[in-house]
Amino acid sequence: MDSRVKKIREAAAFISESIGGRTPEAGIVLGSGLGKLGDAIEAEAVIPFARIPHFVKSTAIGHKGNFIFGRLAGKYVCAMQGRFHYYEGYAMEQVTLPIRVMAALGIKTLLVSNAAGGLNPSFQVGDLMIIRDHINLLPNPLIGPNFAEFGDRFPDMTAAYDLDLIARAEKIAKKAKIPVRKGVYLGNTGPSYETPAEVRFYRCIGADAVGMSTVPEVLVARHCGIPVFGMSVITNVSNIDNASTVLNDGDDVVRAADAAADRMCTIFRKLIESL
Ligand code: HPA
Repeated sequence: MDSRVKKIREAAAFISESIGGRTPEAGIVLGSGLGKLGDAIEAEAVIPFARIPHFVKSTAIGHKGNFIFGRLAGKYVCAMQGRFHYYEGYAMEQVTLPIRVMAALGIKTLLVSNAAGGLNPSFQVGDLMIIRDHINLLPNPLIGPNFAEFGDRFPDMTAAYDLDLIARAEKIAKKAKIPVRKGVYLGNTGPSYETPAEVRFYRCIGADAVGMSTVPEVLVARHCGIPVFGMSVITNVSNIDNASTVLNDGDDVVRAADAAADRMCTIFRKLIESL
């Protein structure tokens, strides 16, 4: 067996044993400061990433580093409180291992969230953005021999973000009177924030928000054929004029994400309910 597949199987077997062999219907990835949704889950098992074979340590701020298994809106789900980032120095295989493991456990849908910087000039701190597409400026996690048991060598990305899930989320937001934006998320490596020239460049190529995560996870989930819904919380707005008064800071990002987390949780909970 391919050593990468062996790692996935071993991690999945460890988790499966801890949750009595149950199959979560959906997987959720909770980004910086967005771990709150994890508290809304009636947890039946909390598994620290550090205990799972082949998982690396989550070092990012605002990331607890747990897998939570339990019920949310009547559905048995698993949620990652925190994630792994390429900027932490991990290989893409390590960054995306949890997605492969959730696929092996049998999830049918993946919901991803992140904290992102607003590029679209109309965006404000605290806005929620439904991700309708992405631009990948990170290394592609699918480089290397193809995992044929998971998916195709050249997976299609024309609807990487599931159109039906987007439509449902928009309906849910409207009904709950939660304003939402819709836009393109650009993933870059970080860990440095963008220069004003990069912000102008990213706007020109069609990005509405920028962050350092999510895209690798979505590529891997789509490779596995799992429908994806994504949402960004705009935690800071990007600056295009070198004004030293607008500085990006990791703690501000976590604070802004925390303030918006309740609205995002409402949408995620109702979306899960609708599955
Ligand atoms: N840039 C990149 N990643 C981010 C930002 C940003 O401005 N805010 C939150 N994550």
